[in-house]
Formats: sequence, structure tokens, C-alpha cells
Amino acid sequence: MSEGSPSKATPSPGSTPELREHVYDGIQEYDQKLPNWWLWTFYLAIIGFFVWWLMYYSAGWFEKDGIGVDAKIAEINEKKAKELEAMMATLDDAVLWKMSRNPLITAKGQATFEVTCVACHGKDLSATMGGAKLTGLPLNDTEWKYGANPMDIFKIVSKGSPDVTKGMIAWEPSLGPAKVAEVVAYVLSYHQPPEGVEVK
Ligand code: HEC
Repeated sequence: MSEGSPSKATPSPGSTPELREHVYDGIQEYDQKLPNWWLWTFYLAIIGFFVWWLMYYSAGWFEKDGIGVDAKIAEINEKKAKELEAMMATLDDAVLWKMSRNPLITAKGQATFEVTCVACHGKDLSATMGGAKLTGLPLNDTEWKYGANPMDIFKIVSKGSPDVTKGMIAWEPSLGPAKVAEVVAYVLSYHQPPEGVEVK
């Protein structure tokens, strides 16, 4: 395109645009006015941006993304807390026995036990390790210093021993009630429910 006279763009009909001096790559252009539809789209985009910017950042008419996410998280936490509350309200011996026959729950309880309780109660709950006696009481026998009912066990694990110096602290503050219930279910999985307790 560089040889010969420069090619010229055709002017829009009805207008008499100026042909610009400038030649590039053999092309000379008219100084055309941009079409109105194009200009108005452009102006409206600019105005639209400012309107949106004012509404979003100054007027605060729309919720910021972060606030929306925080609100959702708060909602979920509230729902979880409600569920937990409902679970705790209905928690009794029968529910704990039932939980103790649910492998999904006892697996979670076991995971907690092996991190939190194993040092004093032993991996097999016998309060021994390699023949040596550990500080805790055995949890796989039928002797219960603080009561044999599931809710008694739940209580001692949640609230700890009346004699804190023995080492059995209250676990609820660090584990939360749901994990305490799971770990109690795991302990109960080593035991048989008394006659008449429905576990299925
Ligand atoms: C630092 C050692 C230690 C740790 C860790 C520990 N315990 Fe204990 N646990 C004890 C001692 C000591 C006793 C006996 C307390 C007493 O005689 O007052 C006890 C008592 C108990 C009892 C009551 C037993 C009975 O015969 O009534 C249960 C149930 C129990 N622990 C469960 C747990 C669980 C579940 C965990 C983990 C969340 C745990 N313990 C962590 C030391 C510990």
C-alpha cells in the first residue's frame, strides 16, 4: 500500500469532513466525527460509572462483598450454634448410647481421644502403656468413680474432676460440647448398654 497515491477513506454521507494531512502506511484519514450512538454509549458509560461509584462507595446503597460474606458466615455459625444447642438439649443417656454405635461419630471421638486423652488413659483405655500404669483411671472396665451412666461420663469429661490436681481437667472449654459428646461416645463403644436401651 505504500506505493502510489495514498488510499482515502470515504467520508460519511452528508458530512464534509476534513482530510487529514497525516499519512501512515499509505493511508490518509478523514477527521470524522464519531457516530452519535458511539459517543452516547461512551458518555453514558462514564456517567454510569460515577453514579455507581457514588451509590456504592459514598451512599453505601449496596452491600460490600466483604460484609455480605461476613453476614453469611455469621448466619452459618448461628445455625451451627442452634443445632448444637438443640443437640445438647436432647442429649441424654439414650442418645449417647446411640452415638456410641455410630461408627462415623466414634471415629471422630477416637481421633479426639488419641490426641487429648491417650496420655493418661492409654490407647486401649486401660490407663496403662506397655505395662506401666498411667495417671488416669481405666475407662474400659466396669468401675466408674464418677458414675456409669453416659451422662455421668459426659459430665466428668465436660466439667473435669472435682479434684483438679489429679489432672482430669474440664475439657468442654477447649473441645466444645460436640467433641466431648463424640469422645464420650467413643468411650461408650467399649461398653455394652444395659438391657432395654435401644441403640439402633
Ligand atoms: C492429664 C491426665 C488426663 C488426661 C489428659 C485426661 N484424663 Fe481423664 N482422668 C484423669 C484422672 C487422674 C482421672 C481421675 C480423676 C479423679 O479421680 O478425680 C480421670 C477420670 C476420667 C473419667 C472418669 C472415670 C471414672 O471412673 O469415673 C473419664 C470418663 C475420663 N477421665 C475421660 C477422659 C477423656 C475422655 C479425656 C480426653 C478428653 C481425658 N479423660 C483426659 C486424667 C486425665
